[in-house]
Amino acid sequence: MGIELIGPRELPSLRKAARAAAETLAHVAARLAPGISTADIDHWVREDTARRGGRPSQLGYQGFPAAVCTSRNHVVCHGIPRRDERLAPGDIVNVDVTTCLGGFHGDTSATFVIGEPSPEARHVVDVARRCRQAGIAVVREGVRLGDVGAAIEEVARKAGCSVVRDFGGHGIGREMHLPPHVPHYGQRGTGLRLKAGMVFTIEPMVNLGGPDVIVLDDGWTVVTEDGSLSAQFEHTVLVTRDGCEVLTR
Ligand code: CO
Repeated sequence: MGIELIGPRELPSLRKAARAAAETLAHVAARLAPGISTADIDHWVREDTARRGGRPSQLGYQGFPAAVCTSRNHVVCHGIPRRDERLAPGDIVNVDVTTCLGGFHGDTSATFVIGEPSPEARHVVDVARRCRQAGIAVVREGVRLGDVGAAIEEVARKAGCSVVRDFGGHGIGREMHLPPHVPHYGQRGTGLRLKAGMVFTIEPMVNLGGPDVIVLDDGWTVVTEDGSLSAQFEHTVLVTRDGCEVLTR
């Protein structure tokens, strides 16, 4: 299957969808506090997305029951918001927002600390953010996906953390999930060669312990096998000739 390239005609619509996702994430971020539930986050995402004329892409996707993924502490990704899951001081929580607007999708996430985090929690969150930025920094026409993955993995390894291998980034545009698959590990000089106009997510999941994960019986929630903390940051990026445009800034 070929990889869709975004041209100047589609770009304004894609930018708009991506910006809407980023703004909804910021809207949620401003409201996070001890005592709120992850179902509250889901409610805010639905409201704010609708206010911007969009639709939460995740709602009903392959049967996913909510508008947003909320992944707390040792949950790696795809956590389902729940009324009985309340944020406590010291928690970390990733909020992953995908918005469909004008026929395009934008996808972004961030991990937030609630109250005063432990040094370990602060570390894994900091490393995950640096991993994403290290991946973004190498994206430009002509580099290969292995170059991106290697840059991410190196930051995690040097910080004593590990990168999840079972999930990666993905192409995005007229669909939420498109080729290519974007591994957050790899070897320089290998993998798909990037072309201007490609659009994909970079969303490393970084664990304080080992890289292995388990999917819970609900069929969605992914947790670290060793119970260690996990953090994640995500942006949607457009490859350009001399770098990339971060669409969900
Ligand atoms: Co994504």
